[in-house]
Amino acid sequence: MKTDMSYSAVMGRKNEIMKKAVGIDYSVFELGGMRFDYERMMHEAGYSLEEIEKIQSMTGVGNTPLLELRNITKLARKMAPAGYGARIFIKDEACNPSGSFKARRAATAVYHAKKLGYKGVIAATSGNYGAAVASQAAMHGLRCIIVQECYDSRMVGQPEILEKQRACEAYGAEVVQLSVGPELFYTFLCLLEETGYFNASLYTPFGIAGVETLGFELARQCKLSLGKFPEAVLITHAGGGNVTGTARGLMKAGAENTKVIGASVDLTGLHMASDKDFNRKSFTTGHTGFGLPFATWPDRADVPRNAARPLRYLDRYVLVKQGEVFYMTEALASLEGLERGPAGNTSLTAAFAVAQEMHEDEIIVVQETEYTGAGKHPMPQLNFARSNGIEILYGDPDKEIPGKNIIFPDHPSRIKIRDFDLRKAKISFIKNCISTYKPESISEEEIQFIASETKMEVSGVLSVLQEIGMPLQA
Ligand SMILES: Cc1ncc(COP(=O)(O)O)c(C=O)c1O
Repeated sequence: MKTDMSYSAVMGRKNEIMKKAVGIDYSVFELGGMRFDYERMMHEAGYSLEEIEKIQSMTGVGNTPLLELRNITKLARKMAPAGYGARIFIKDEACNPSGSFKARRAATAVYHAKKLGYKGVIAATSGNYGAAVASQAAMHGLRCIIVQECYDSRMVGQPEILEKQRACEAYGAEVVQLSVGPELFYTFLCLLEETGYFNASLYTPFGIAGVETLGFELARQCKLSLGKFPEAVLITHAGGGNVTGTARGLMKAGAENTKVIGASVDLTGLHMASDKDFNRKSFTTGHTGFGLPFATWPDRADVPRNAARPLRYLDRYVLVKQGEVFYMTEALASLEGLERGPAGNTSLTAAFAVAQEMHEDEIIVVQETEYTGAGKHPMPQLNFARSNGIEILYGDPDKEIPGKNIIFPDHPSRIKIRDFDLRKAKISFIKNCISTYKPESISEEEIQFIASETKMEVSGVLSVLQEIGMPLQA
């Protein structure tokens, strides 16, 4: 009998397809209702830090240099009050084989696929992760399919995503290109079922554990060369794996007091699933369109329990504007001689402003750079924005309206961070837990679970539950 490939039939087989494709039985970590054992999942389904260091070093991943940005620090100090302006360092993740920190995630996923005997790997991603998986698959001799959402309905492609298509194909992967819409997940499931390949999801425990080496390395590098852990680490935030893995690695290195600060480009007002808005943004990752939905509901991912859970680790979440990030991209190239891609420059922009709040003897680390290339560079992005009717202006970036204009700061003192109220994100997370699992009342265990998931005190959780009118179990 022929398998029913209708949309509803494939979606109905989702759990079965996923279970076969990822090699993890997530049900063993479930504790009933909203609760699951996150640490057990990270421990049993992942690898130890030492194992990951070995796996990554086999393919030249990791051990990237930590560079001091002396000229950018000098510039920040000119804008800061006397005695302020922390030393800014950057971890040059562009040195990884596929040009970004995503190689760390892909290294563990592809190694695992090979160990389990899969013939190939599939990832649904329009970002650097596709190139990272393709590069790792090439090294391990596995086949690779990358499913991308890269066009709007006019078949106009985002330059940065097209750039990644070129990279994936150069590494020998087959790239399936789609337009914006719900068919991404459907196509992904069909391909997994048809090929029997491994789902190299971004969100498995081994993928996220792959990023732990990044936090661990940078903490160790600071300790060795500067005599202390950094006071703050700035992390570009989208799906949450970058924040989660880095923060876990910092903790494993003993850097418990280092502040974990997430940074995203503010794309408020643009809708990620909208065909009309798809090509009106100049950043394809590290923006609020992913950052907020994933922080407030991580389990929207392509695995039952997402190992990337940023609210567990974030001390602060700050937003920057598109024009500011373009400006800092140019500053990094012209002041430091480092021409790097957009995603890492999001946290660099935030670091430039955060450094001005910190003392001169303090250390701030921007934990990544990414490679740049034909479609990622500011010029193609700005030309593309202009061709979509977006105005490019100089002035006050605070007046930037995503999708309408991009405002370059007319002076570096205009570069700012806007704090996103993390409590708001935590309340949304709690509401999402309640609307998904529909408990009639909340037990003590559930309160503890929410407290760990949101990095809140139990008293904080209780006050939110009271605010939203959720009864406690008698
Ligand atoms: C270079 C780079 N930096 C940062 C991010 C954000 O990482 P995450 O999605 O894990 O938050 C991405 C993800 O697309 C990326 O490719």
